Amino acid sequence: MSLPDILKGRLSIPVVGSPLFIISNPDLVIAQCKAGVVGSFPSLNARPVEVFEQWLQRITSELAEYDAQNPERPSAPFAVNQIVHKSNDRLEQDLALCVKYKVPIVITSLGAREDVNQAIHSYGGIVLHDVINNFYAKKAIEKGADGLIAVAAGAGGHAGTLSPFALIHEIREWFDGPLLLSGAISNGNAILAAQAAGADLAYIGSAFIATEEANADQGYKDMIVGSAASDIVYSNLFTGVHGNYLKQSIINSGLDPEALPESDPSKMNFGSGGSSKAKAWRDIWGAGQGVGAVKQVVPAAQLIERLQREYQAARERLVL
Ligand SMILES: Cc1cc2nc3c(=O)[nH]c(=O)nc-3n(C[C@H](O)[C@H](O)[C@H](O)COP(=O)(O)O)c2cc1C
Repeated sequence: MSLPDILKGRLSIPVVGSPLFIISNPDLVIAQCKAGVVGSFPSLNARPVEVFEQWLQRITSELAEYDAQNPERPSAPFAVNQIVHKSNDRLEQDLALCVKYKVPIVITSLGAREDVNQAIHSYGGIVLHDVINNFYAKKAIEKGADGLIAVAAGAGGHAGTLSPFALIHEIREWFDGPLLLSGAISNGNAILAAQAAGADLAYIGSAFIATEEANADQGYKDMIVGSAASDIVYSNLFTGVHGNYLKQSIINSGLDPEALPESDPSKMNFGSGGSSKAKAWRDIWGAGQGVGAVKQVVPAAQLIERLQREYQAARERLVL
């Protein structure tokens, strides 16, 4: 087990709030960090690039102010997600801003690149790379990532198909650095289970969609509250890559969730000029199989309090 030094003594619970396309914004990230959970956002949520700099200014200054007022309980560091895909024409600009603002943690997705890792290391930042199997995990570490996010079956957004137990086991056979587990974690029992399985931290997305701060339609938040694991559909139709979505949002868009056609990866487009992915994700709502544990829309701090209570109770229950 290995928690990155940057996180030691900074977390109230071993959790990273994962980046959510369109949904993560400074309000959510600041609330997560103040409550002792790493908050994160994809840089592409801030459009155009000038807005990304404004977000970085706001997040760094509000958290510094909070830390000055709460030296005994400082905020958790924040993270920025970079989509390392050839269609992302903002990557170089966004990376330069991460360096300028010394973003503590960068989460890379869809591509591992040595130059990106070196840029973040140049000021002491760390890179966590998300992977859906052991092959990509090895590649990411070879290219210089500091830690891995194992995206297992049942995760919201682009998800893997492997059991978390199998995936964590295979990675832990050769990697003893920071390891996060992603996929359907939305209660305290599952956070402890992630650690028991060999992960250092739980990576939680869908549960944070149903928070007051999240930039999502009220109907989306309510649908998360009203859904269970069996209401999640796994399809590659909407972005070209397989992901998990709320069945009812597919039905509301006039499609039959039981008979969705196949798509292909060449449809992926993360360009700054807006994309079919953006449109798809605005209408077709992503969520993971852990939605059953989400019972109401609450402020992020209240969700984190629930996770803390449940996590503590799970630990006490398991003391033999
Ligand atoms: C609506 C939605 C949007 C997402 N957008 C991104 C993204 O832009 N970048 C990224 O790395 N992961 C993204 N993810 C994946 C999450 O970061 C994370 O892996 C996942 O939400 C964890 O599973 P859970 O939702 O079951 O907690 C997204 C997930 C959802 C549900």
